[in-house]
Amino acid sequence: MTRQARPSQRTKKKGQTTQKKDKAPPKVGKVKLQDNQKRTESSRKWLLRQLNDPYVSKAKDLGYRSRAAFKLIEIDAKYRLLKPGMTIVDLGAAPGGWTQVAAEKLKVGTLKGAAKGSRIIALDLSEIAPLKDVTILTADFTDEATIQALMDNLAEGAARGVDVVLSDMAAPASGMTDVDHIRIMNLVEAAYEFACLVLKPGGAFVAKVLQGGTEATLLTRLKKAFTKVSHFKPAASRKDSAEIYVVAQGFRGSPGKL
Ligand SMILES: C[S@@+](CC[C@H](N)C(=O)[O-])C[C@H]1O[C@@H](n2cnc3c(N)ncnc32)[C@H](O)[C@@H]1O
Repeated sequence: MTRQARPSQRTKKKGQTTQKKDKAPPKVGKVKLQDNQKRTESSRKWLLRQLNDPYVSKAKDLGYRSRAAFKLIEIDAKYRLLKPGMTIVDLGAAPGGWTQVAAEKLKVGTLKGAAKGSRIIALDLSEIAPLKDVTILTADFTDEATIQALMDNLAEGAARGVDVVLSDMAAPASGMTDVDHIRIMNLVEAAYEFACLVLKPGGAFVAKVLQGGTEATLLTRLKKAFTKVSHFKPAASRKDSAEIYVVAQGFRGSPGKL
């Protein structure tokens, strides 16, 4: 069990309304780079995009570790997936924006969350800084040993299955569209197969896929395994990014090996 860095709360001044996290972020003035530092063209573009991205400043304001947090906030506002008492596995979780949002929704790190038995396991190739009462695993999801480690963690205590499997996993972009597509689809397929092993009946699976939606074969499998399958592009997902999320609800099976 590790310590949770709670998203900071803004001090509410008299007459000021509380900022809603699922509303569009405030527009910020366009920032230009005026320093004389040597940068490559791509790092210059990246920096400018970060500086001019309203979700980056809103994430900083609200204490989220990544702008990606707003994608899960939007997904949850639309599909109502995350509730106290649930067990959630968050794949590709670093630096932890989605995990912070899930922890808020499940009240993990609070007495209420503990009393209800809320549980989050967050996994990534990269290290994730501690979050209170969240189990963090640093490993490659595509390794068999990792699946076993996840199953062992889930089987600890009451083995009652998982309510939601989240996957925001994405391999670093290679610049080659076909290669990136294959890599992300391999990760989604592996996440789907894991979800089928651990989800409770009625459980949900959310995964990052690429524009054009989920590949036909995977979509067919998802439609067999879940009662409802939708695609959703949150406003916080960059318009020039091909990413989109598949949201599968109402798992028809029963947990495999738990
Ligand atoms: C877009 S980031 C996730 C952002 C995160 N959801 C958040 O809210 O902060 C994608 C993550 O997928 C992770 N990833 C990619 N391939 C992976 C793999 N095989 N196993 C585990 N994590 C992986 C990357 O390390 C990266 O941190």
